[in-house]
Amino acid sequence: MDIKEPHGGWDKLWVEGRTLWDLGEATPIVVHLCETGSLPNGRALIPGCGTGYDVVVIASPDRYVVGLDFSKTSVERSKKMFSSLPNSKHFSFLEEDFFTWEPSEKFDLILDYNFFCAFEPKVRPLWAKRMQELMNPGGELITLMFPLDDRVGGPPYQVSVSAYEELLIPLGFEVISIVDNELAADSRKGIEKVGRWKKKKKRSE
Ligand SMILES: C[S@@+](CC[C@H](N)C(=O)[O-])C[C@H]1O[C@@H](n2cnc3c(N)ncnc32)[C@H](O)[C@@H]1O
Repeated sequence: MDIKEPHGGWDKLWVEGRTLWDLGEATPIVVHLCETGSLPNGRALIPGCGTGYDVVVIASPDRYVVGLDFSKTSVERSKKMFSSLPNSKHFSFLEEDFFTWEPSEKFDLILDYNFFCAFEPKVRPLWAKRMQELMNPGGELITLMFPLDDRVGGPPYQVSVSAYEELLIPLGFEVISIVDNELAADSRKGIEKVGRWKKKKKRSE
């Protein structure tokens, strides 16, 4: 599928530092979930991780985190920024395309922030299929759903709770919870929710 990128491509935005989506710190709700022990352990993936503050903040001896981005510039920058941290053996940054990457192992946790909304709606079924393929049975997908408004065009493209439900439920995910993100950045408050989804195990698993 021909997947539309922002004019000039994502890497160009990174080269030029036009990264308005970047909070400059770990996402407060992700930090909160991590600190309250409510994130699954095991192998975690953050596709389209950008700088990857969240990759670093949730990495621990119990949770190995892969930060994936296909921008060479972004991945090189993240490696430079974070590779000397004390927990650096618990995470890695990979320059790969989410839609074609074939990892040797699946994941117990996948966190999507500002990634689903980076694609035109026609790409979303492929996004959902990849989530299903990359997730271990019983694994959890966390979607920070933004922007829940009625904008036209993108990125970020407008999202809705029903858009996620229509894609994920037929693929064997069930909703654990969908709540407003009270810790969203000021400019995103009221138009961002936290969705938690479990990939159901088949009877034999
Ligand atoms: C809007 S930014 C969000 C970055 C980060 N999640 C955040 O919230 O700060 C989207 C990111 O996805 C990356 N990206 C877009 N398409 C991708 C793909 N097919 N595979 C991997 N990364 C991709 C871009 O390079 C960019 O860094």
